[in-house]
Amino acid sequence: MLSYRHGFHAGHHADVFKHIILTRLVLSLLNKEKPFFYLDTHSGAGRYNLQSAMARKNREYESGIIRLFGAEGVSDEVKAYLQIVRAENPSNDLQFYPGSPRFVRHFLRPKDRMVLCELHPNEVENLAAEFAGDRQVKVEHLDGYAGIKALLPPAERRGLVHIDPAFELQDERHRLLDALKEGYRRWPTGIFAIWYPLQDRFVTDDFLRRLKRSGIQKILLAEFSILNPDETLRLIGSGMVIINPPWQLDEQLRGLLPWLWKQLAVEGQGGYKVEWLVGE
Ligand SMILES: C[S@@+](CC[C@H](N)C(=O)[O-])C[C@H]1O[C@@H](n2cnc3c(N)ncnc32)[C@H](O)[C@@H]1O
Repeated sequence: MLSYRHGFHAGHHADVFKHIILTRLVLSLLNKEKPFFYLDTHSGAGRYNLQSAMARKNREYESGIIRLFGAEGVSDEVKAYLQIVRAENPSNDLQFYPGSPRFVRHFLRPKDRMVLCELHPNEVENLAAEFAGDRQVKVEHLDGYAGIKALLPPAERRGLVHIDPAFELQDERHRLLDALKEGYRRWPTGIFAIWYPLQDRFVTDDFLRRLKRSGIQKILLAEFSILNPDETLRLIGSGMVIINPPWQLDEQLRGLLPWLWKQLAVEGQGGYKVEWLVGE
C-alpha cells in the first residue's frame, strides 16, 4: 500500500537540491541539436499547491523554496531553476511548486519527449490532468522500475532517467539497485540521476557500497544537509548520484553547494560534499 504523498513535502530543502541538479542536467542535454528522452520513474503529482491543507500541515517549503524565491544575483543553474518556479507563479506570490516533471517540461523542445511513471492512483490522476492534451508527455500508471525495463533504451539514444522513490518500502534500495543495473545494461550511455534521503548513515553507506560494486562506471555523488545527524533519524538532507554526468558537473556542484548551504542550513548545521563514487 502506497501512503506517501509528495504534497506534504513539496518545496522543502531536498526538493530544492534535487531540482537544481535536475535543471542543470536537462540544460546540458539542450547543448546538442539531437532530440532527447526523459524518463521520470517516480513522478509524483507534477505540481503542488503550497497553500493547500496538505502542504500547510508541516509547511516544509519553509526549509527550502521560501528562502530562495526572491534571491537575486544567483549562479546560472540557480537562475534557470528559479525562473521555472517563478513562471509557475506569475503574480510573484509563491503558491505553486513544480515537481520534477514540470521542471523538465519547461525545457522540452518540440522534438524531445518524456514518459512519466507513477503508481499511486490519486497522484497518477493528478499527473494525467496536469499534462492532459500534451502530446510530448506520456503518463503511465506503472511501477517505475518496470518502466525502466520496458522503455530503455529509447530511440533517441540520449537523455536522462530520474529515479526518485519515496523509500517507503523495506526493500526499496534493493529494488532500485536491481532496476538501475538493468537500465544501465540496456542503456550504458544514458544519464541516470538517483535521489536518496540522508537519515540513517549506516543504511546510506550500505546502499552506496553496493552501488560502487555494481560494475556501473562514472558515478558522481553529491550530498547536501541542513541539519546535523542525531539519534531520531529525521531527514537531515539528501543525496543524488549521477551516472554519466555531463562534463564539469562536479566542478559546478562544488561551486553551487556552499552557496546553497549558506541559504538553507539551520544555524550552521549540516554540510555538503561532491565526490566520485566510481571515477571515469
Ligand atoms: C518523492 S515522490 C516523487 C517526487 C517527484 N519526482 C518530484 O521531484 O517532484 C515519489 C513518488 O513515487 C511514487 N511511487 C512509489 N513507488 C513507486 C513505484 N514503484 N513506481 C512508480 N511510482 C512510485 C509515489 O506515489 C510518489 O508519488
